[in-house]
Amino acid sequence: MRNRIYSRFMLNYNVIAVSNIAKQLSRMCSNGNLVNVAKKAAAYRAVNEHVKDNQRIGIGSGSTIVFAVERLHQRVQEEQLNVTCVPTSYQARELITSHGLVLEDLDMNPVLDVVIDGADEFDDDLTLIKGGGGCLTQEKIVAASGKELIIITDGSKKSKLLGEHWKKGIPIEVIPMARVPVAQKIQAMYGGEAVLRMAKSKAGPVVTDNGNFIIDWKFEKAAKWGLVHSNIKLIPGVVETGLFVEMARCIYVGNSDGTVERIAKHD
Ligand code: 5RP
Repeated sequence: MRNRIYSRFMLNYNVIAVSNIAKQLSRMCSNGNLVNVAKKAAAYRAVNEHVKDNQRIGIGSGSTIVFAVERLHQRVQEEQLNVTCVPTSYQARELITSHGLVLEDLDMNPVLDVVIDGADEFDDDLTLIKGGGGCLTQEKIVAASGKELIIITDGSKKSKLLGEHWKKGIPIEVIPMARVPVAQKIQAMYGGEAVLRMAKSKAGPVVTDNGNFIIDWKFEKAAKWGLVHSNIKLIPGVVETGLFVEMARCIYVGNSDGTVERIAKHD
């Protein structure tokens, strides 16, 4: 009798546990979908409003840019647009070629009409943290070659001050042999913690498209980011920082209901 009661209890317990897991999974899936709806809405609107015929376009990296390239491909097909694309990473290069778009580089075209890219976080001044995907150096070179940098994100990237939402720190690309002195110097100058980024599906550190390492600097508090960027950039061995100061022209922020907010500093 006791055994029967116990088995019945365990059966009910397992049914409840399984149904809770199913609920959690479905919540996770639909959250993921909602984020993608937001990213897609922002990317589509940016491509609709900023891409014109005969333009040279810089293509950023990350997950949001995938939707921008998808929309660009549609517009090229539908409107017979004649555009060329310069990538910011190996991923961007693959996206461009797999969509049959025309691939170029900065040797051929050092001035771009528009650059579209994602961001990990932005503040009220439109200062960006970039490099969550490790592509910050090429992203910054391409952004600086563009007449305008247009950022596409979902609402989770919007903060009053940097560090409010993005907790992984500011990515800094370094020459491998300089990783320890660079990390120590940043900590001595500004505090916080500068950590070598480790790979997920490879032993050892992340190696960038340029053959370098990434240090993620978890800073303590908001600062004058232009000055912080310049000072860190002066440390021997630093290739680039993921701080994009005074670079973004405007930011398209997608919402999960498909609406998009456009934020610009000088409108
Ligand atoms: C890669 C980047 C990306 O633009 C940034 O990480 C945003 O990515 P996502 O669109 O996946 O949110 O800077 O180095």
